[in-house]
Amino acid sequence: MADHEHGTSTTSEQITAEVLAAIQGTGADRARVVLTSLIRHAHDFAREVRLQPDELLGAADFLRRCGEISDEARHELILLSDVLGMTMVVDTIAAEVPDGALETSVLGPFYRAGSPLEPNGANISRGGSEDGEPAHIHGQVLNLRGEPIAGAELDVWGTNANGLYENVDPLQPDYNLRGRFRTDETGAYDLWTVKPVSYPIPADGPVGDLLRVTNRHNMRPAHFHVIATADGYRTIVTELYTDDDEYLWTDAVFGVKSSLVVHYERIDDPRRLAAADRAEPYWDLRHDFVLAPGESGEVSFSTGREAAGR
Ligand code: BEZ
Ligand code: FE
Repeated sequence: MADHEHGTSTTSEQITAEVLAAIQGTGADRARVVLTSLIRHAHDFAREVRLQPDELLGAADFLRRCGEISDEARHELILLSDVLGMTMVVDTIAAEVPDGALETSVLGPFYRAGSPLEPNGANISRGGSEDGEPAHIHGQVLNLRGEPIAGAELDVWGTNANGLYENVDPLQPDYNLRGRFRTDETGAYDLWTVKPVSYPIPADGPVGDLLRVTNRHNMRPAHFHVIATADGYRTIVTELYTDDDEYLWTDAVFGVKSSLVVHYERIDDPRRLAAADRAEPYWDLRHDFVLAPGESGEVSFSTGREAAGR
């Protein structure tokens, strides 16, 4: 390097240039673009905050601890991305949707593929009254012109009243509060589950330390997860957020968008209970999902249940 020849000391910018030059042989175009930008931003970040050697080692140790606490049912590095808002930024730029169409929200680390396909009207509360307060969720899947989409699939999941997903709670039945539903020829879907509750995301690992350092709570507002797919329409991974939740606007993972906030109506009128053939009060949510044209795709991430019982 010219500066070396002249006996002057090496600058950090020269190191950045050297690293960027070294990776230009990356075979895949996309990998080269991403790595180049990552290195440029990471080096600039180190310069901006004058990152210290012990801080870099601290970061490496933080990531090591994230790996150590992770297993099939616990994904600390996804959680890290979630609490830093990275997941929501990436999801949102990946699926810009037209006005009026269903918006995305965070997938979270508890999605489990392969839920049972249920008939409309089925109850996915498989754990009895301990699961929580019954909720009836129903409506239509529509296109942007308001026309019904028949054969759309809604893959849904939620926690029980204790705020736990079945794959991390050995006391719940397999696939409790999870199920897949298909719309009928009128685009209608209909299911019974429990009214969502707010729940804490895991705070016993490095991500919990990060939340404490930044004086943030670890609560997610009550929500109901949905993956909506239909042939010829963009697959949307999202959540519906309950409007009466105290954490609605301080979600630990920044998932809430205004269009995803919904209202559950409490049904306790005897005539309506009789009409629904229910003996006990329940919550009712009518919600239509509007899909935009595009490619339907599979969600590539899924947890297991094997590690439950930790
Ligand atoms: C969830 O909603 O399942 C979730 C999302 C992000 C982090 C933790 C949990
Ligand atoms: Fe969740």
